[in-house]
Amino acid sequence: MSAPRKLHIKSYGCQMNVYDAQRMVDTLAPEGFVETDNVSEADLVILNTCHIREKASEKVYSELGRLRTAKDDAARNGRQMTIAVAGCVAQAEGREIVRRAPVVDVVVGPQSYHHLPQLLRDAKNNGRAIETEFPAEDKFNFLPPPQPQSIKARGISAFVTVQEGCDKFCTFCVVPYTRGAEVSRPVARIADDVQRLVDNGVREITLIGQNVNAFHGEGPDGKSWPLGRLLTHLAAMSGVLRLRYSTSHPNDVDDSLIEAHRDLPALMPFVHLPVQSGSDRILAAMNRKHTAGDYNRVIDCFRKVRQDIAFSSDFIVGFPGETEADFTATLALVAQIGYAGAYSFKYSPRPGTPAADHTEMVPTAAMDERLARLQNLIDSQQLDFNTSAIGTTVDVLFERDARHPGQIVGRTAYLQPVHVFASPDIIGSVLPVHVESLERYSLLGSLAAPASIVSPRAGFDTRAPVVTGA
Ligand code: 5AD
Ligand code: SF4
Repeated sequence: MSAPRKLHIKSYGCQMNVYDAQRMVDTLAPEGFVETDNVSEADLVILNTCHIREKASEKVYSELGRLRTAKDDAARNGRQMTIAVAGCVAQAEGREIVRRAPVVDVVVGPQSYHHLPQLLRDAKNNGRAIETEFPAEDKFNFLPPPQPQSIKARGISAFVTVQEGCDKFCTFCVVPYTRGAEVSRPVARIADDVQRLVDNGVREITLIGQNVNAFHGEGPDGKSWPLGRLLTHLAAMSGVLRLRYSTSHPNDVDDSLIEAHRDLPALMPFVHLPVQSGSDRILAAMNRKHTAGDYNRVIDCFRKVRQDIAFSSDFIVGFPGETEADFTATLALVAQIGYAGAYSFKYSPRPGTPAADHTEMVPTAAMDERLARLQNLIDSQQLDFNTSAIGTTVDVLFERDARHPGQIVGRTAYLQPVHVFASPDIIGSVLPVHVESLERYSLLGSLAAPASIVSPRAGFDTRAPVVTGA
């Protein structure tokens, strides 16, 4: 048997890329590839890229510069290093990548990861392989299910893609172009993946998709199921302690989802619901198809059924034409909702999107100043939210050993990290913790009751920023 070939994947951007990287590992395992953390010993390096903002895109080219040196070093030692660019930059820029960076051997868009083994062979035979078409077949039917080794690497919490792509076409966003039209996976396939994960020790499942609550996969009854029904189905599976989903669009919150929050204790009361702006004028220019009032009403629907629910969001400051009055409306919305946390970004024009044609750019200095004001407000809300946990008892799902010897780290329903001194036996269990203090973003506490449900499991955190989208 030949020695295994080494594969190094570097992922940028959202949770979907983290998930896709694991799918690529599973796809390449039968070809004899095993993962390595060390780029210099890799036979194949895959950069799994993000195109959402200019800064994210440009990172790829600086990384490719560094990889040229690594590839030359490998060649000097008589070893061939193959370099592949995957993800949304691959999809958006295609052939342009090899023009700018001839070091690249393979360019593969997110819809074609199941073709990776063939593309590697093509590159070997022809010197280069590029595939960025949206293939006619559904890749989900060809990608292997999660394999035990890659599941073990995830630890207690894992992502499962339930839908991909977006039909919303917000005017600033590349996702509908890079990830394509919205496609949902059948319920049975999703449930199979969840079963495999749970059988291998995973206890928390986050359903991911660029527009996850647009999910309409085929159910076992042949009918189209909404996300709430899927969540209800998965919550009934034994071993699933916690369920989450990301990223949602306010216009796709339906009764099934609200009812799921009302009825399912496993469904965590923490929802990432991007609004982008609090100004109706800017929301219209963004083609969001909702107003600030509509968004508030959606939030109220969740709050009515789950008083302990908390929200996070995404904001863009400095969208073309945004005035000080528009920005003040965003601050007012944030003040009204009260977030547990949020991501905020400066508008970045993306080639090919309608907003990139606007000429009324907000000056950089104004964007910087607005971003700082918004982030200050969000930071203070986050601090208030975290501080309010002190002195209370909260349920924590324990995930892994902490860096500090003897400490175990887990997360609350709101994804706040919690550190306690305890035996590693508690990893994989949900236990009540009395919260004593807050250190930066982390809660410190002690177990409120002796561990009774124990499911030993070790692993590490593979969490990434929220999935791009919605
Ligand atoms: N500029 C800045 N931020 C953007 N986002 C998406 N496109 C852009 C852009 N062109 C943000 C949105 C989205 C998050 C994933 O990234 O807030 O919700
Ligand atoms: Fe779709 Fe979200 Fe992008 Fe809008 S911001 S186009 S909803 S992925």
